[in-house]
Order: sequence, then structure tokens, then C-alpha cells
Amino acid sequence: MILTQAVIVFLCLGLIHTGFGQDCPSRQEMQSSLKQVQKLLSTHESTYLQSLRTLRKRLNLLQSTAVLANNGTCPKLDTPANSRKLGRVMSPGHEVYFICDAGYELVGTESRVCQESFTWSGHQPTCRDINECASGPCLNGGTCVDEVNQFSCKCPKSWVGTSCQSPVISGFVAMTNTSAVLSAPSVTVGLFVRPSRCTQVQGSTHCTCDAGYTISGRDSTTCTDIDECELFHTGQAGRLCLHSCINTPGGYRCSCPTGYNVTRDGRNCKDIDECATRQSNCTRDQMCINTYGGFQCVHVECPRLRNSTYSKTSPLRCERNPCSVDNKMCPQAPNSISHHFLSVVSNLSAPRTMFRVSALRPIGDTLRFSLLGRGQARRHFTVQRSDRQTGQLVLVSPVQGPAVLEAEVEMTELDKRVQLARYITKVTMFISQYEF
Ligand SMILES: *[C@@H]1O[C@H](CO)[C@@H](O)[C@H](O)[C@H]1NC(C)=O
Ligand SMILES: *[C@@H]1O[C@H](CO)[C@@H](O)[C@H](O)[C@H]1NC(C)=O
Ligand SMILES: *[C@@H]1O[C@H](CO)[C@@H](O)[C@H](O)[C@H]1NC(C)=O
Ligand SMILES: *[C@@H]1O[C@H](CO)[C@@H](O)[C@H](O)[C@H]1NC(C)=O
Ligand SMILES: *[C@@H]1O[C@H](CO)[C@@H](O)[C@H](O)[C@H]1NC(C)=O
Ligand SMILES: *[C@@H]1O[C@H](CO)[C@@H](O)[C@H](O)[C@H]1NC(C)=O
Repeated sequence: MILTQAVIVFLCLGLIHTGFGQDCPSRQEMQSSLKQVQKLLSTHESTYLQSLRTLRKRLNLLQSTAVLANNGTCPKLDTPANSRKLGRVMSPGHEVYFICDAGYELVGTESRVCQESFTWSGHQPTCRDINECASGPCLNGGTCVDEVNQFSCKCPKSWVGTSCQSPVISGFVAMTNTSAVLSAPSVTVGLFVRPSRCTQVQGSTHCTCDAGYTISGRDSTTCTDIDECELFHTGQAGRLCLHSCINTPGGYRCSCPTGYNVTRDGRNCKDIDECATRQSNCTRDQMCINTYGGFQCVHVECPRLRNSTYSKTSPLRCERNPCSVDNKMCPQAPNSISHHFLSVVSNLSAPRTMFRVSALRPIGDTLRFSLLGRGQARRHFTVQRSDRQTGQLVLVSPVQGPAVLEAEVEMTELDKRVQLARYITKVTMFISQYEF
């Protein structure tokens, strides 16, 4: 009732205001508009007072009846350990839902209804720790170790990653071995060893070598290649190459892992944007996400929940369709689910803000931000408030790649402690193998 009045007042004032700017109504017109507003207000005031009186009457009636022996409600329900309870109304016909925390699964009925007999239907459920290893999350022969709310994989030698999903890149290893072969004297005689150029000046011999070679041999007749990679391997000024160094006759060159190109200065590595250069082969319904050293094809699907449906409103966003009046579960489901994909390098320093979520037009009196998701996400992320309307996902500890981390940030709008809306942002972080 109060809300309706407020909206009407706003509308009328708005009308007057725009009228002003456009064609300046006469004083008379203004006064008549204001009178109309006053009239509307007083009508609303009287209806409001009328319904308050009716409400009070009904309350008195209730108090005097036997219903009060039961307090008119079902008994208070406990929230099982490691869970959340949805639904606050404890009167007949209302329902309470239980949702287990991340890492736990529900045993028993997920909802209980307050019956006419002022008792709850069903039995109180419990939340039990999920054995994360049950689904066999470790690939390629990895051994799973179950921990509370997470698991870890012990990977065989040639596999890495949180679920041993990535092969140890062999391109790089092969390259190093190639250079080892190259600098082996037996293969490189003639390239890495050269005769020196000597001149006789006033009876003494001066021998010189080309750049990149140094005089060797007892008689100064030979020049040997300088192994710059070895020489500058641990220099104070840093390494010669960001990634790997290949010694060449008279010089060196740097090489980068697959997915990177050597930069112009010849020493650093630059990620190749496969998505921009069309080296990716994602299908039409997939999106290409460039990552450091590679790319990912992602496909966003809207959730299929039992009592609510979603529509894809953009490639990365799903919004809940309007709820039917008789569907009580539907308003509890998230209003929207957005996806965000971030590409980062391995061992990123922490703490560091990765992502911000904020409410454009908050409708309630309170905004709440929280981190959903399990396992790795809880270990590496936290959600903080950065201002009244903004929450941020903060990386709290460095992550070693290659890995994929997922975190879900939930933003809840409440008014007088009643949930009005819930928005979920799913953040997927692709962490590269290297620190570049
Ligand atoms: C009635 O309900 C109120 C609020 O839920 C509670 O504080 C009170 O203890 C209840 N009284 C009885 C007799 O159950
Ligand atoms: C590269 O060389 C190292 C040392 O010589 C050896 O241990 C490794 O197995 C080699 N890697 C490959 C792929 O040949
Ligand atoms: C990266 O290197 C590849 C092969 O060396 C080359 O074809 C490509 O044009 C380079 N890309 C950029 C962006 O320099
Ligand atoms: C294209 O897709 C196939 C099959 O998924 C994959 O094996 C191949 O490496 C992809 N090629 C490129 C350039 O991404
Ligand atoms: C869920 O949806 C079904 C079918 O639309 C409906 O019959 C049922 O009452 C709904 N459940 C709740 C708790 O609203
Ligand atoms: C991660 O970075 C820190 C500091 O930047 C460094 O000391 C550490 O060695 C790095 N760890 C790995 C595994 O590279």
C-alpha cells in the first residue's frame, strides 16, 4: 500500500516536471495537477487505513480462537549442519527447502510442507560430506585423495593439472634436448669450431675470431663458439631468454613454447591470439576464449531446474523466465546466471582482485555477496565487498598452472531480510602452464 502511494507521487511529480521543461504550463494548470495528486493521496490514505483496521480486526479474531494454542504455525525447524534453509513462513501450506553447502549432499527429503495439522511433512534431512573421489575425477591413472569439500590427484609422471588432465608439454622438452644435441661437439665440428684468423705483426702472431667465438687451443689457431645460453644462464642481469635458449654457431636464439611467438627483441615470448588469428576451430555455438599459450572453446548452457526455466539473453547470460503464481519454488531460483572467462598466467601474485559484481539498480535494503562452489575455488578465492553495491572476487593464493578454476559469486538482494532476487556469476579462470 505504502509502496503504491510512493510510486504514484513520483509519477505525478515526474509529469509536472517534464511539463515544465517542455511547454511551461500555466499556474492554473499546475495547481489543478497538484490538487489531483492531493485527492489521489487522500483516497489512498483512507483505503490504507481501512485495510489496517480490517487487519487488526482479523488479528484480534485470531487471538481469541483456539488456533493460538498452536501459535498458528508449525514448530520451528532446525537447519541441518552444513546447509541452508529456504523459506521463512511457517504457516500451513508453506514449504521450507534445504540446500546443502558446497561439498555436501542431501540425505532425505529436500523440502517439508507445513500441514493443516501444524506438523511438518516428511523427515528432517541431513547433509553428508561428498566423497569427491567417488566420481573418479583423476584422469590418466591419477590417484584420488579425498579431503573435506575437495580432492586432490596424485598424477603419474607425464601428466599434470588438478585432475591430471594435461600432458606435460613434450615440445619444450624436445627442444631442450635438440639444443643439447646441437652443442655436442661430435655433431657440430665445423660450425662451432673454426680456424682463427692470424696476422704477423713485427714478428709476433695475433689471432682473432668472429663475434661469438673465442680463441681456444694451445696455439691459438682455433676459435670455439661461445655458448651464450650457458654463459648467461644465471647472470645477474637475468636470463638471456624468457623461455628457452638455443645456442647457435656464433650466437644464440630464444624459443617459446607452442602457442607463443618470440617477440621482436628476440628474447621474450608473446601469446598468440588463436581466436583472432582463426587458428582455433570452435564450432558455431561455441565461443573462443584466448588463453595464455592456447585457446578454449566454451559453450554456455542455461540451467535446467525443476521449477524454473531460463532463456539465453546473450552468449554468456541466462535469465529466469517469469514464474507462474502457483509455483513457489521458482522465485527462489537465481534470477540470472552469467558466465565470465578469464585467462591468467601461472603463479599470479596474490591477493589480487579478479572480478567485480555490482547491482545496477538495487531494489532492496541489503545486498549480500557470497562465494559458492567447492574444492579449489574455496582454497584460492574469497568474496569481499568493495563498496555498498559491489562485491569482488579476490584471488588469495597463487595458483600453479596449467589448471582451470571455477568460482561462483552469488549476489542476493534482500528487503527486510526477505530475499528479493539472486544473481549468480560463474567465473572460470584458465591458468596457463607458464608464468607468461
Ligand atoms: C509463537 O510464535 C512466536 C514467533 O514465532 C514465538 O516467539 C513464540 O514463542 C510462540 N509461542 C508459543 C506458545 O509457541
Ligand atoms: C631429454 O634429455 C634428458 C637428459 O638428457 C632426458 O632425461 C630426457 O628423457 C630427454 N627427453 C626426451 C623427450 O627425450
Ligand atoms: C607467430 O609465428 C608464426 C610462425 O612462426 C607466424 O606464422 C605468425 O605470423 C606469428 N604471429 C605473430 C602474431 O607474430
Ligand atoms: C580442431 O579440433 C580437433 C578435434 O577436436 C583437434 O584435434 C584439433 O587439434 C583442432 N585443431 C585446432 C587447430 O585447434
Ligand atoms: C513445481 O512445478 C510443478 C509443475 O509446474 C508444480 O506442480 C509444483 O507445484 C511446483 N512446486 C512448487 C514447490 O512450487
Ligand atoms: C611463484 O612466484 C614467486 C614470487 O613471484 C616465486 O618466488 C616462486 O618461486 C614462484 N613459484 C613457482 C612454482 O614458480
